[in-house]
Amino acid sequence: MTFPPSENPTTKIGRGLARRIASFDRRPIAAAKNFGAKAVGIEYDTDLAAFARRNAERAGVSDKVTIITGDIFKEDFSAATVVTLYLLPDLNQQLRPQLLRMKPGTRVVSHLWDMGEWEPDETLRDGDSEAFVWIVPAQVGGRWTISDAQNRWDGVLDIMQQFQRIGGTLTIRGAAQPLLGAYVHGALLGFTFVALDGGVRSVRVRVDGGAFSGSLQFSGHLTPIAGARTAN
Ligand SMILES: C[S@@+](CC[C@H](N)C(=O)[O-])C[C@H]1O[C@@H](n2cnc3c(N)ncnc32)[C@H](O)[C@@H]1O
Repeated sequence: MTFPPSENPTTKIGRGLARRIASFDRRPIAAAKNFGAKAVGIEYDTDLAAFARRNAERAGVSDKVTIITGDIFKEDFSAATVVTLYLLPDLNQQLRPQLLRMKPGTRVVSHLWDMGEWEPDETLRDGDSEAFVWIVPAQVGGRWTISDAQNRWDGVLDIMQQFQRIGGTLTIRGAAQPLLGAYVHGALLGFTFVALDGGVRSVRVRVDGGAFSGSLQFSGHLTPIAGARTAN
């Protein structure tokens, strides 16, 4: 089940969603009706797909909702900004690599089933219904160079990544400092480190494939910084 980009993309994932997404045929319809989203549903079962199309017509949103009778492993939903799922545990796990290749920041919501080791960023509960929310993280694991815009200093950033959990070190002039409070949230990468002079500095950058740019904060001053990947 996918919601691709639209003029009014679905931006709200909040309380109450867990119950709404419990029924397959209602999800794209609710997104179209409540948020004006363009929605695409993918369902293997011909009868269920036809049922969903009829419901979209009844709700007056068939111009915004497309239901494909097809296979989620064959259909291309890479342009979606929000993906909602009600599958089975094994299917969620099989779909995980495909979801992790989506654009960083894409939201994934699954009714009932989780993604194994990929822990949810949020769990929604509404009565007996439960849903899990993930934000697709940028792939930041590996080695990067990092330098400030004036080339006054540079360093080597080594990041270990397990889904949205990251850690690592920043090495400047041969001294490795641990990354403190490191996070990757969609395309945003941030961490704090203690520099050789004992000062605390914070880095916040946006990752775009094999490069990043952003700022380094020190004593209230922001300095532009940039980096590039050198090894995976
Ligand atoms: C847990 S049931 C959900 C039933 C119903 N769709 C709903 O939301 O209430 C899982 C659904 O996933 C569908 N499904 C399983 N594998 C699929 C695949 N590869 N592509 C598309 N749909 C698939 C099944 O046909 C089934 O309807």
